[in-house]
Amino acid sequence: MGYKVAVVGATGNVGREMLSILAERTFPADEVVALASRKSLGVECSFGDKTLKVKALDHYDFSDIDICLMSAGSAVSKEWSPKIAAQGAVVIDNSSCWRMDPDVPLIVPEVNADALAGFRKKNIIANPNCSTAQLVVALKPLHDHAKIKRVVVSTYQSVSGAGKDAMDELFSQTKAVFTVSEIEPKKFPKRIAFNLIPQIDVFMEDGYTKEEWKMVAETKKILDPKIKLTATCVRVPVFVGHSEAVTIEFERPISADEARSILSAAPGCLVIDRPESGGYVTPYECVGEDATYISRIRTDPTVDSGLVLWVVSDNLRKGAALNAIQIAECLINRKLIAAKKKAA
Ligand SMILES: NC(=O)c1ccc[n+]([C@@H]2O[C@H](COP(=O)([O-])OP(=O)(O)OC[C@H]3O[C@@H](n4cnc5c(N)ncnc54)[C@H](OP(=O)(O)O)[C@@H]3O)[C@@H](O)[C@H]2O)c1
Repeated sequence: MGYKVAVVGATGNVGREMLSILAERTFPADEVVALASRKSLGVECSFGDKTLKVKALDHYDFSDIDICLMSAGSAVSKEWSPKIAAQGAVVIDNSSCWRMDPDVPLIVPEVNADALAGFRKKNIIANPNCSTAQLVVALKPLHDHAKIKRVVVSTYQSVSGAGKDAMDELFSQTKAVFTVSEIEPKKFPKRIAFNLIPQIDVFMEDGYTKEEWKMVAETKKILDPKIKLTATCVRVPVFVGHSEAVTIEFERPISADEARSILSAAPGCLVIDRPESGGYVTPYECVGEDATYISRIRTDPTVDSGLVLWVVSDNLRKGAALNAIQIAECLINRKLIAAKKKAA
């Protein structure tokens, strides 16, 4: 007997990607239900070669749902995840709402699948922020080998990370530049077309942005609380695909060649690293792919034991939808959940 899966936020960037990944990976689902807000009632969403009609979240009965993939933002998750979880469905949430809750595992399956063990406390599992997910996939194998002391990361994050309206804003502003029309920032604090913005999410008291804080706190929770990390998160005019320049200081020596071979064998990583023109991966090339791509691996000569990397991944996949579905697959493969008996 297969599972009944609900996708909440099915009309959004992440939800649409979830439906396509569920179909691609032939996830063991007998039924998939697409849910969104009332305004999307009846909207059609593609699910493999089928079409699903969107139902409204606030009228839906979750009592026979086994797995709920949630990607409708923090406010919706705060209100709905506990109600859905109380009806016996495991909620895998993409928002930042539950990530730092000590009773909610924050999971990247290649890194800390064992932390799933405590998920029944709330029946909610959190997916990390998109920039954290690809970062920890690349850091984990290196940490296992040479123990990371400190990380300095600068991100170059695509507009799709801010939702479908943000993608429309880049598109319409770009058109406005060519037609010499007025450019009015709505979703972003400044113009994004032919520009970049060193602010993602709100400012915190210490001068960092919340996105930067999330990278620090989530890396500690997923990988190791002893790792020191500082981040600068930048929005760039790219539709899909987040990039990161990562400088790492280790406790033990590690050469660029060793890192290349460790990362080449690591789950979820794909090394493409030729020190020649074009011998690296750009965000445009990672769209629709599952891997976290690592390029430009080189020694940092300013510390005793340091490396610098370029890390690129599709933020809608490894940064969100794919990671959530890998978590669901882990629950099934580890026999941590069983499908509910459905009415005939
Ligand atoms: N994009 C990324 O790279 C990424 C990565 C990691 C995590 N996330 C997180 O994933 C979540 C979704 O992001 P997104 O990029 O997919 O956003 P999005 O494109 O703006 O889509 C938002 C989705 O939420 C639904 N929704 C909004 N209010 C709702 C309500 N009251 N009831 C039911 N559904 C509602 C929307 O439905 P309607 O169309 O009906 O409004 C839509 O399907 C966010 O929490 C985001 O932080 C995103």
